[in-house]
Amino acid sequence: VSLKHFNTFGIDVNAKYFVEINRKEELQELFADPQWLQIPRLVLGGGSNMLLVNDFNGLVIRINIRGIEHRVNGDSAIVEAGGGEVWNDLVNFCVDHNLSGMENLSLIPGSVGASPIQNIGAYGVELKDVFESCEAFEIATNTFRNFGKSDCKFGYRDSVFKTELKGQYIITSVKFKLSLEPQLKLTYGAISEELANRGINTPTIKDVSKVVSAIRVSKLPDPTTIGNAGSFFKNPVIPVEKFALLKTIHPDVVNYPAGEGFIKLAAGWLIEQCGWKGKVVGNTGTWKNQALVLVNHGGATGEEVLAFSSQIIDSVYSKFGVLLEREVNIIGT
Ligand code: EPU
Repeated sequence: VSLKHFNTFGIDVNAKYFVEINRKEELQELFADPQWLQIPRLVLGGGSNMLLVNDFNGLVIRINIRGIEHRVNGDSAIVEAGGGEVWNDLVNFCVDHNLSGMENLSLIPGSVGASPIQNIGAYGVELKDVFESCEAFEIATNTFRNFGKSDCKFGYRDSVFKTELKGQYIITSVKFKLSLEPQLKLTYGAISEELANRGINTPTIKDVSKVVSAIRVSKLPDPTTIGNAGSFFKNPVIPVEKFALLKTIHPDVVNYPAGEGFIKLAAGWLIEQCGWKGKVVGNTGTWKNQALVLVNHGGATGEEVLAFSSQIIDSVYSKFGVLLEREVNIIGT
């Protein structure tokens, strides 16, 4: 089975076995057969945060569990969505029902079930700010388990599902807690600027969602036309001492506070300074409006994109002494 249409990078590799799961019980049925426990597995949601480097010699499981329900409770609402729902459909559902909290996360590609794994975030909001709990299938025991917020150990683009429990669970549904009162987060400069440009002084939830979507469209390539997986690297977090030194050499280095003793740098800025912004290298390159995004200009192989990303890591390291870490999952090396 070709995975070309199941990953937003549009990399054309094959999976040996492929199954689509529409109801959570189908996971129990599938893994009742021990043959599937013994071979490599890859769980796919939207396929929007991975780079496939080789054919996948195992079972690809595509989660297509649907459904969105909500229940109001005082001044908040609990919204529960199936792991296979499209993330942005959920955001639109909440915006349409005047439920506030995830409007800044508009237009992020991917599925609801994948969203807790890397604690997706944008424009000053992270998934953990609206997350209530999730239900996940434990492969080893063929049972379902509930994870509360603290169980998930959320960090910057990080959770327990990427670290200690990696590969052991499949998220089947997620519950979110949203507010009936608008709780707008407009601290991110680009949002307030764009609202001002549009002459909007008292924005609604819908205004914020629209503005965020417009900013994303202007900066980020549309994966349906140009293959990509969003930010390819994480923004590096470095100790303040190292930052102080860096700033003496590069006074204009773009930076944000990152908790006591640490500073976060804008990886896109570091990459641009190395001359990579908008560069086309073979079938790959970086996006012209956002150097942090690697793209497939057509026919790129996973190996080609991976090799290009290593070149970027090396060049940022030699110029700034900062080691970039990949944010997308590299599958098959
Ligand atoms: N910048 C440059 N050149 C570039 C790109 C960025 O100089 O080519 C500098 C600019 O100064 C800009 C700053 O970097 O002001 C920050 O850029 P931007 O607002 O585009 O955000 P980012 O830090 O590059 C992060 C997330 C994005 C998220 C945006 C908005 C990570 C790895 N990426 O990018 O998330 O949409 O903030 O909140 O944290 C993703 O994870 O896939 C993703 C797209």
